[in-house]
Amino acid sequence: MGDHRTIAVLTSGGDAPGMNAAIRAITKVAASRGVHVAGVVGGYTGLLEGTTRALTHEVTTASGKMVVPEPEVDAIAALGGTVLGSARELRFLTAAGRAPAVAALAKFAGLVVIGGNGSLAGAHALAGECSVPVVGIPASIDNDVGCSSSAIGVDTALNTIVDACDKICDTARAHRRAFVVEVMGRECGYLAMAGAIAVGADAVLFREQGRTEEAIVDAAVQAIRRAFEQGRGKQRVLILKAEGVSVPCTRLVRLVEERLLSDLPGVDVRATVLGHLVRGGNPSFQDRMIAGRLGLAAVAAVLEGASDVMVGWQGPAGGVPTGDPAVARFALELVLRESAALVDGTSAVTRRRVQMMELVEGVLGL
Ligand code: F6P
Repeated sequence: MGDHRTIAVLTSGGDAPGMNAAIRAITKVAASRGVHVAGVVGGYTGLLEGTTRALTHEVTTASGKMVVPEPEVDAIAALGGTVLGSARELRFLTAAGRAPAVAALAKFAGLVVIGGNGSLAGAHALAGECSVPVVGIPASIDNDVGCSSSAIGVDTALNTIVDACDKICDTARAHRRAFVVEVMGRECGYLAMAGAIAVGADAVLFREQGRTEEAIVDAAVQAIRRAFEQGRGKQRVLILKAEGVSVPCTRLVRLVEERLLSDLPGVDVRATVLGHLVRGGNPSFQDRMIAGRLGLAAVAAVLEGASDVMVGWQGPAGGVPTGDPAVARFALELVLRESAALVDGTSAVTRRRVQMMELVEGVLGL
């Protein structure tokens, strides 16, 4: 028999600002219930290899023994990334590959997995193979996890995009330039959509628009022509592009410049790919708050024996209520199904997001 008073926690997949805040919350909430927490180092790779580090210890006070968080846990909430490290573990794609992890989990009271869709798919597979509760927490800057209106990391990523675009607009105005700024998001265009509104972009390009390369180029050319038409006085053009749009940023800029040669020859068009910058940074208030409340709900779920579920933030109706009105539990099978629908566009959430962008598209470039 293993030590069933220790919960294992791991972070997996693309890191997201706020993961550390979730780790701290899990550690403090568990300690408050007299339960230890072991951090698995290196995501699912660490689980397979048994690489863990204690996040709590036991002290003996006048009133008796108690479980307390390691002092450094307090400091980690403000840090970006994940102090436990992460990995993309291909062995987790098969039951045979997962077997050592299933065996390793037997000695814990349960496992909390903090990550995006790939990580939650691993948690779902594990839940079906091991005897202890497995609970997921959505953490992905892409905001492509079903049953959670926001995953941990999204708000910080958007703040980073806003700050970066504000800086780019400073120099764009100085030279009356057009910039195409590419943001992360994998197949999901949410960061580009929400970011475009926040930064006052003149146009936004995202995969869910379903445009051909020619239509993408047309949209960019039209935005620049409209902005730099005589007499408008606009000094900059900012086009946000989601990385899921298949045309590479530099190719898009070249094709746009070729089209503008005839009637706007003097306009400079530049490309900036924000890349992993969008994933870094100290977590915002919003991400720390969501991380803390999801962490609390995840520990409660494990200790109640709930497994194969994810705790979602302001998710759809139908989740299992928790003590937190903004947090509910959703079966991981449903989460993964909804996540797939978010990406293939059949989800009502995606349709609402696209509909909202169509509503503002005509205004963006004014
Ligand atoms: O899923 C988060 C994410 O940052 C995506 O937006 C991006 O496409 C991907 O991870 C990049 O993955 P990696 O860091 O492994 O290159």
